Amino acid sequence: MSFTKRTNCGEYGLPDVGREVELAGWVDALRDHGEVLFIHLRDRSGIIQVVFNPENTSADICKRASALKSEYCILIRGTVIERKKDTANPNIETGKIEVAASGLEILNRSRSLPFPISEKAMVAGADVNGIGSVAEDVRLRYRYLDLRRPSMQSNIIMRHRIIKCVRDYLDEETFIEVETPILTKSTPEGARDYLVPSRVHPRRFYALPQSPQLFKQLLMVSGIERYFQIARCFRDEDLRPNRQPEFTQLDIEASFIDEEFIYEMVERLTERMFALGGISLERPFPRMTWREAMNTMGTDHPDTRFGLRFTDATDMFRETSYGIFRKILDKGGVIKGINIRGQSDRLSKNVLQNEYAKKIVPSFGAKGMTWMRVTGGVLESNIVQFFNEEERQKIIERFKAEDGDVIILIADTSWDAVVSVLGQLRLHLAKRLDLVREDRYCPAWITEFPLFSLTGRRITSNHHPFTAPDRTDFNPENREELLALKSRAYDLIVNGEELGGGSIRIHERSLQRKIFKALKLSDDEVAKEFGFFLKALEYGTPPHGGIALGMDRVIAMILKKESIREVMVFPKNRRAYCPLSKAPSPVSRKQLSELGLLDLDGGKWVEGKKVMNR
Ligand code: AMO
Repeated sequence: MSFTKRTNCGEYGLPDVGREVELAGWVDALRDHGEVLFIHLRDRSGIIQVVFNPENTSADICKRASALKSEYCILIRGTVIERKKDTANPNIETGKIEVAASGLEILNRSRSLPFPISEKAMVAGADVNGIGSVAEDVRLRYRYLDLRRPSMQSNIIMRHRIIKCVRDYLDEETFIEVETPILTKSTPEGARDYLVPSRVHPRRFYALPQSPQLFKQLLMVSGIERYFQIARCFRDEDLRPNRQPEFTQLDIEASFIDEEFIYEMVERLTERMFALGGISLERPFPRMTWREAMNTMGTDHPDTRFGLRFTDATDMFRETSYGIFRKILDKGGVIKGINIRGQSDRLSKNVLQNEYAKKIVPSFGAKGMTWMRVTGGVLESNIVQFFNEEERQKIIERFKAEDGDVIILIADTSWDAVVSVLGQLRLHLAKRLDLVREDRYCPAWITEFPLFSLTGRRITSNHHPFTAPDRTDFNPENREELLALKSRAYDLIVNGEELGGGSIRIHERSLQRKIFKALKLSDDEVAKEFGFFLKALEYGTPPHGGIALGMDRVIAMILKKESIREVMVFPKNRRAYCPLSKAPSPVSRKQLSELGLLDLDGGKWVEGKKVMNR
């Protein structure tokens, strides 16, 4: 069996009628008409119908064909013939022709399947039993079969095309692809490390990279000037939608550049990648500071496909006699609201009071909510009587309110709470009122993030500690000043999802030290964790910056897939477990002993976080 004459199933059409063909692939579906057997033969290129008819096919081959079952791997020989008009199948590209079989070899049999693989009905107008109701863990356990489905094959092929487009583009822009180590030292990206014990150095551990951050910066020290990598990153963090413990970044770094270089270069790249999915993006992408995003949409990764922006109303109620607002404002609080234009028909008093005020908004963490509807030019609600005429008029003016509008106000002593609640409410309302146009793609850059934030009482880096601040004359001991610093970081957002993030970096050792000082890292800790990096900064490091795009997210968005798992070949499930290989799994005592781990911690096991129900 040489397969030298083998051609692709999906390539045939009417012009090929009369051709002798040799095809190999899998039995996608079968239809037995007594004497005559039809099969769909599937390979990577598509599906073609093969007919075993005693009129054209020998009795021996027909007999052999009668044993065929779904997903048998076979080779057939035959002649392309035209189908009768009324038997053409518009479900498949080759639907106007079929192959009259003259030869058949069963290359391998298949057990009965755990779920259907076929996605194309054999006759026009018929339905197929899809994968819809199959549990994802079953799909992952048999991923090699799941990946046979044409829709998954198409995802993998498109992933290849998008990554190829990235490589071509960056090559044109004179970037060089460089591989950095996987067995390495921890880089602080905010998650926990996956550790790999060393046999040669007992009780010492490598860390798998959370990102190639330090290495790509070192490559700038090395004079590579323009680097990229399709880099696998590993983060041990609690899984949320669109996060995987192991994922792929397009990691980029360049020297002698500023923010504008990154915006321009990444916008052109993003435009090209999205075009592969038939999506056109308008350039330049809008930019918005972190403060503006938070103040108007309550999140640093806002969905800008629809309005429902917040309006600040804090200054309007300073003198109010409405007790709740008054108390909150006396404590330095904030009042913001959303005008939901023209939706009062769909947001009745009952819905606003009994659903939103009593249940939905409290579930977002709010202590209360105030609503008003505009009818006949005046506000109506259960509390408007507490506002005087001037206040009512101010509300109408500030919110540019008209008949049919609904205004929701949230007041709280904490700005964080107000924007967080309104941000969640904004998304909830957009969904309920169908305000999100699924065919729109709205990218945006978020800029001017705070450099630091508070985690409990501790000052932590918002991005990572190598991000340049907007000014360098700060006092690392002054908390207030530190929390007011902005960073030269930027995130790329599309439709409310963070696709990438990066920054201009610190390239001077003294400033890097100052940042570590602000983070309250002792000299010892700094020397131990980052000594090698600080040293490198002493040798003429050029100004540099970069970005990383989460490629799984980018590809899932271009292919309009709900989850990044649909565009990854062997992802982990939601509990960071691989149902196919059953990783992670226990190891033998011998292995532990070789690694010097048997008596670690005096022989006592430290209980990890247990995850039931794998
Ligand atoms: P950051 O941590 O923002 O930046 O990561 C960059 C992008 O990677 C994607 N991403 C993920 N995708 C899937 N699963 C995950 N667990 C996951 N975590 C992150 C996101 C994110 O925007 N070193 C910096 C980049 C830089 O400064 O150049 C970094 O890693 O799409």
